[in-house]
Amino acid sequence: MKYFALIPAAGVGARMAVGYPKQYLPLLGRPMLRHTVEAFLRSPLIEHTYVVVSAGDAYVADVLPDDLEGVTVLRCGGATRMESIRNGLRLLAEAIGAQDRVLVHDAARPGLTPAMIGKLVAEAGAEAAGGLLALPVVDTVKSTRGGSVATTPRDGLWLAQTPQMFPCALLRRALEEAPDPDAITDDASAVELLGYSPRLVEGHPRNLKVTLPADVRIAEMYLSMDITQ
Ligand code: CTP
Ligand code: MG
Repeated sequence: MKYFALIPAAGVGARMAVGYPKQYLPLLGRPMLRHTVEAFLRSPLIEHTYVVVSAGDAYVADVLPDDLEGVTVLRCGGATRMESIRNGLRLLAEAIGAQDRVLVHDAARPGLTPAMIGKLVAEAGAEAAGGLLALPVVDTVKSTRGGSVATTPRDGLWLAQTPQMFPCALLRRALEEAPDPDAITDDASAVELLGYSPRLVEGHPRNLKVTLPADVRIAEMYLSMDITQ
Protein backbone atom coordinates (compact mmCIF):
# COMPACT_ATOMS: atom_id res chain seq x y z
CA MET A 1 0.00 0.00 0.00
CA LYS A 2 1.31 3.45 -0.93
CA TYR A 3 0.41 6.88 0.44
CA PHE A 4 -0.12 9.88 -1.83
CA ALA A 5 -0.88 13.51 -0.94
CA LEU A 6 -3.48 15.53 -2.84
CA ILE A 7 -3.55 19.23 -1.96
CA PRO A 8 -6.48 21.37 -3.15
CA ALA A 9 -5.08 24.86 -3.82
CA ALA A 10 -7.57 26.29 -6.31
CA GLY A 11 -9.51 28.58 -3.99
CA VAL A 12 -9.59 32.37 -4.25
CA GLY A 13 -9.37 33.18 -0.53
CA ALA A 14 -12.44 35.44 -0.50
CA ARG A 15 -12.52 35.70 3.31
CA MET A 16 -8.81 36.55 3.49
CA ALA A 17 -9.28 39.20 0.80
CA VAL A 18 -5.63 40.05 0.06
CA GLY A 19 -6.13 40.59 -3.68
CA TYR A 20 -4.59 37.25 -4.67
CA PRO A 21 -5.23 33.64 -3.53
CA LYS A 22 -4.32 33.24 0.14
CA GLN A 23 -2.25 30.10 -0.49
CA TYR A 24 0.42 32.42 -1.92
CA LEU A 25 0.47 34.76 1.08
CA PRO A 26 3.99 34.97 2.54
CA LEU A 27 4.31 33.43 6.02
CA LEU A 28 7.72 34.08 7.57
CA GLY A 29 8.81 35.09 4.07
CA ARG A 30 7.72 31.87 2.35
CA PRO A 31 4.45 31.30 0.45
CA MET A 32 1.85 29.41 2.46
CA LEU A 33 1.58 26.68 -0.19
CA ARG A 34 5.30 25.99 0.02
CA HIS A 35 5.12 25.46 3.78
CA THR A 36 2.22 23.05 3.24
CA VAL A 37 3.96 21.04 0.53
CA GLU A 38 7.19 20.80 2.57
CA ALA A 39 5.47 18.74 5.30
CA PHE A 40 4.76 16.03 2.72
CA LEU A 41 8.16 16.31 1.02
CA ARG A 42 9.82 15.80 4.41
CA SER A 43 7.66 12.78 5.30
CA PRO A 44 9.30 9.46 4.34
CA LEU A 45 5.82 7.88 4.12
CA ILE A 46 4.59 9.88 1.14
CA GLU A 47 5.16 8.45 -2.33
CA HIS A 48 4.29 11.60 -4.25
CA THR A 49 2.43 14.88 -3.76
CA TYR A 50 -0.10 16.34 -6.19
CA VAL A 51 -1.28 19.95 -5.99
CA VAL A 52 -4.51 21.07 -7.69
CA VAL A 53 -4.56 24.71 -8.83
CA SER A 54 -6.91 26.60 -11.13
CA ALA A 55 -6.23 26.53 -14.87
CA GLY A 56 -5.17 30.19 -14.99
CA ASP A 57 -3.00 30.20 -11.83
CA ALA A 58 -0.15 32.69 -12.40
CA TYR A 59 1.72 32.10 -9.12
CA VAL A 60 2.35 28.39 -8.72
CA ALA A 61 5.32 28.12 -11.11
CA ASP A 62 7.43 30.34 -8.83
CA VAL A 63 6.42 28.49 -5.66
CA LEU A 64 6.67 24.92 -6.95
CA PRO A 65 9.13 24.99 -9.88
CA ASP A 66 9.05 22.14 -12.40
CA ASP A 67 12.37 20.75 -11.14
CA LEU A 68 11.15 20.36 -7.55
CA GLU A 69 11.20 16.62 -6.96
CA GLY A 70 8.27 14.76 -5.46
CA VAL A 71 5.55 17.23 -6.49
CA THR A 72 3.32 17.50 -9.54
CA VAL A 73 1.00 20.45 -10.22
CA LEU A 74 -2.40 19.68 -11.77
CA ARG A 75 -4.20 22.62 -13.37
CA CYS A 76 -7.70 21.21 -12.97
CA GLY A 77 -9.26 23.24 -10.14
CA GLY A 78 -13.05 23.37 -9.99
CA ALA A 79 -15.71 25.73 -8.65
CA THR A 80 -15.72 24.13 -5.19
CA ARG A 81 -13.16 22.37 -3.01
CA MET A 82 -14.90 19.08 -3.65
CA GLU A 83 -14.79 19.53 -7.42
CA SER A 84 -11.09 20.45 -7.33
CA ILE A 85 -10.32 17.19 -5.53
CA ARG A 86 -12.63 15.13 -7.73
CA ASN A 87 -11.01 16.57 -10.86
CA GLY A 88 -7.57 15.77 -9.48
CA LEU A 89 -8.55 12.17 -8.76
CA ARG A 90 -9.88 11.80 -12.30
CA LEU A 91 -6.49 12.83 -13.70
CA LEU A 92 -4.74 10.39 -11.35
CA ALA A 93 -6.79 7.33 -12.34
CA GLU A 94 -3.67 5.60 -13.70
CA ALA A 95 -1.15 6.89 -11.16
CA ILE A 96 -2.82 5.78 -7.91
CA GLY A 97 -3.99 2.22 -7.21
CA ALA A 98 -7.50 1.47 -5.89
CA GLN A 99 -6.24 0.46 -2.44
CA ASP A 100 -3.47 3.04 -2.20
CA ARG A 101 -4.27 5.75 0.34
CA VAL A 102 -4.85 9.38 -0.64
CA LEU A 103 -4.23 12.05 1.99
CA VAL A 104 -6.25 15.13 1.05
CA HIS A 105 -4.86 18.22 2.76
CA ASP A 106 -5.87 21.89 2.47
CA ALA A 107 -3.21 24.21 1.09
CA ALA A 108 -4.53 26.61 3.73
CA ARG A 109 -3.18 24.46 6.61
CA PRO A 110 0.56 25.25 6.52
CA GLY A 111 1.19 24.13 10.12
CA LEU A 112 1.11 20.41 9.32
CA THR A 113 4.25 18.49 10.30
CA PRO A 114 5.70 15.16 9.12
CA ALA A 115 5.08 13.87 12.66
CA MET A 116 1.35 14.57 12.31
CA ILE A 117 1.29 12.76 8.96
CA GLY A 118 3.04 9.84 10.66
CA LYS A 119 0.50 9.76 13.49
CA LEU A 120 -2.46 9.70 11.08
CA VAL A 121 -0.92 6.92 9.00
CA ALA A 122 0.02 4.90 12.10
CA GLU A 123 -3.44 5.10 13.63
CA ALA A 124 -5.67 4.95 10.54
CA GLY A 125 -3.50 3.78 7.64
CA ALA A 126 -5.01 0.30 7.65
CA GLU A 127 -8.63 1.41 8.16
CA ALA A 128 -10.93 0.48 5.27
CA ALA A 129 -13.04 3.57 6.09
CA GLY A 130 -10.00 5.85 6.28
CA GLY A 131 -9.38 8.50 8.91
CA LEU A 132 -8.69 12.16 9.54
CA LEU A 133 -7.05 14.51 11.98
CA ALA A 134 -9.55 16.29 14.22
CA LEU A 135 -9.63 18.27 17.47
CA PRO A 136 -11.98 17.59 20.38
CA VAL A 137 -14.18 20.66 20.99
CA VAL A 138 -12.99 22.49 24.11
CA ASP A 139 -15.48 25.37 24.29
CA THR A 140 -19.11 25.22 25.41
CA VAL A 141 -21.21 24.95 22.25
CA LYS A 142 -24.31 27.11 21.69
CA SER A 143 -26.94 26.64 19.01
CA THR A 144 -29.43 29.21 17.69
CA ARG A 145 -30.98 26.83 15.19
CA GLY A 146 -34.28 26.46 17.01
CA GLY A 147 -34.77 30.23 17.31
CA SER A 148 -33.74 30.46 20.95
CA VAL A 149 -30.29 29.75 22.37
CA ALA A 150 -29.57 26.19 23.44
CA THR A 151 -26.43 24.49 24.75
CA THR A 152 -25.20 21.37 23.01
CA PRO A 153 -23.08 19.00 25.14
CA ARG A 154 -19.56 19.13 23.73
CA ASP A 155 -18.58 15.58 24.64
CA GLY A 156 -18.22 13.53 21.49
CA LEU A 157 -17.93 16.67 19.30
CA TRP A 158 -14.83 17.18 17.14
CA LEU A 159 -13.59 19.82 14.70
CA ALA A 160 -12.42 18.20 11.47
CA GLN A 161 -8.96 19.06 10.17
CA THR A 162 -7.00 17.65 7.27
CA PRO A 163 -5.22 15.47 6.14
CA GLN A 164 -8.19 13.21 5.51
CA MET A 165 -6.99 9.83 4.28
CA PHE A 166 -8.98 7.18 2.37
CA PRO A 167 -8.45 4.25 0.04
CA CYS A 168 -8.36 5.89 -3.40
CA ALA A 169 -11.29 3.91 -4.82
CA LEU A 170 -13.52 4.77 -1.86
CA LEU A 171 -12.72 8.49 -2.01
CA ARG A 172 -13.26 8.58 -5.76
CA ARG A 173 -16.64 6.87 -5.46
CA ALA A 174 -17.70 9.13 -2.58
CA LEU A 175 -16.88 12.32 -4.50
CA GLU A 176 -18.42 11.08 -7.77
CA GLU A 177 -21.66 10.15 -6.01
CA ALA A 178 -21.93 13.14 -3.63
CA PRO A 179 -25.25 14.89 -4.28
CA ASP A 180 -24.21 18.52 -3.67
CA PRO A 181 -20.62 19.81 -4.05
CA ASP A 182 -21.43 22.97 -2.04
CA ALA A 183 -22.63 20.90 0.93
CA ILE A 184 -19.49 18.75 1.00
CA THR A 185 -16.96 20.89 2.89
CA ASP A 186 -14.70 17.97 3.72
CA ASP A 187 -13.94 14.59 2.19
CA ALA A 188 -15.02 12.56 5.20
CA SER A 189 -18.60 13.80 4.93
CA ALA A 190 -18.84 12.37 1.40
CA VAL A 191 -17.44 9.05 2.62
CA GLU A 192 -19.85 9.05 5.58
CA LEU A 193 -22.77 9.38 3.12
CA LEU A 194 -21.76 5.96 1.76
CA GLY A 195 -22.21 4.49 5.26
CA TYR A 196 -18.55 4.43 6.31
CA SER A 197 -17.27 5.65 9.66
CA PRO A 198 -13.76 7.16 9.27
CA ARG A 199 -11.48 7.10 12.31
CA LEU A 200 -10.78 10.39 14.10
CA VAL A 201 -7.16 10.90 15.11
CA GLU A 202 -6.38 13.78 17.47
CA GLY A 203 -4.55 16.58 15.66
CA HIS A 204 -2.92 19.76 16.97
CA PRO A 205 -4.03 23.44 17.05
CA ARG A 206 -1.01 24.41 14.91
CA ASN A 207 -2.75 22.71 12.00
CA LEU A 208 -5.30 25.55 11.86
CA LYS A 209 -6.92 26.53 8.56
CA VAL A 210 -5.73 30.02 7.68
CA THR A 211 -9.04 31.62 6.73
CA LEU A 212 -9.36 35.16 8.11
CA PRO A 213 -6.77 38.00 8.27
CA ALA A 214 -6.41 37.41 12.03
CA ASP A 215 -5.19 33.85 11.38
CA VAL A 216 -2.02 34.98 9.60
CA ARG A 217 -0.09 35.99 12.73
CA ILE A 218 -1.20 32.85 14.57
CA ALA A 219 0.03 30.68 11.70
CA GLU A 220 3.37 32.51 11.71
CA MET A 221 3.69 32.01 15.45
CA TYR A 222 3.23 28.25 15.11
CA LEU A 223 5.56 28.08 12.09
CA SER A 224 8.27 29.86 14.08
CA MET A 225 7.97 27.27 16.87
CA ASP A 226 9.80 24.02 16.44
CA ILE A 227 7.00 21.69 17.54
CA THR A 228 7.28 18.14 16.35
CA GLN A 229 4.18 16.64 17.86
N1 CTP B 1 -10.12 25.04 -2.68
C1 CTP B 1 -9.96 24.50 -3.95
N2 CTP B 1 -10.87 24.76 -4.94
C2 CTP B 1 -11.92 25.56 -4.69
C3 CTP B 1 -12.11 26.12 -3.39
C4 CTP B 1 -11.18 25.84 -2.40
O1 CTP B 1 -8.99 23.77 -4.20
N3 CTP B 1 -12.78 25.83 -5.68
C5 CTP B 1 -9.09 24.79 -1.66
C6 CTP B 1 -8.46 26.07 -1.11
O2 CTP B 1 -7.42 26.52 -1.99
C7 CTP B 1 -7.99 25.65 0.26
C8 CTP B 1 -8.94 24.52 0.65
O3 CTP B 1 -9.67 24.16 -0.53
O4 CTP B 1 -6.66 25.15 0.26
C9 CTP B 1 -9.87 24.93 1.77
O5 CTP B 1 -10.72 25.97 1.31
P1 CTP B 1 -10.88 27.41 1.97
O6 CTP B 1 -10.09 27.53 3.22
O7 CTP B 1 -12.34 27.73 2.01
O8 CTP B 1 -10.13 28.35 0.90
P2 CTP B 1 -10.79 29.36 -0.13
O9 CTP B 1 -12.00 28.73 -0.74
O10 CTP B 1 -9.71 29.82 -1.04
O11 CTP B 1 -11.22 30.57 0.83
P3 CTP B 1 -12.64 31.31 0.87
O12 CTP B 1 -13.68 30.24 1.16
O13 CTP B 1 -12.51 32.32 1.94
O14 CTP B 1 -12.82 31.92 -0.51
MG1 MG C 1 -13.72 28.19 0.46
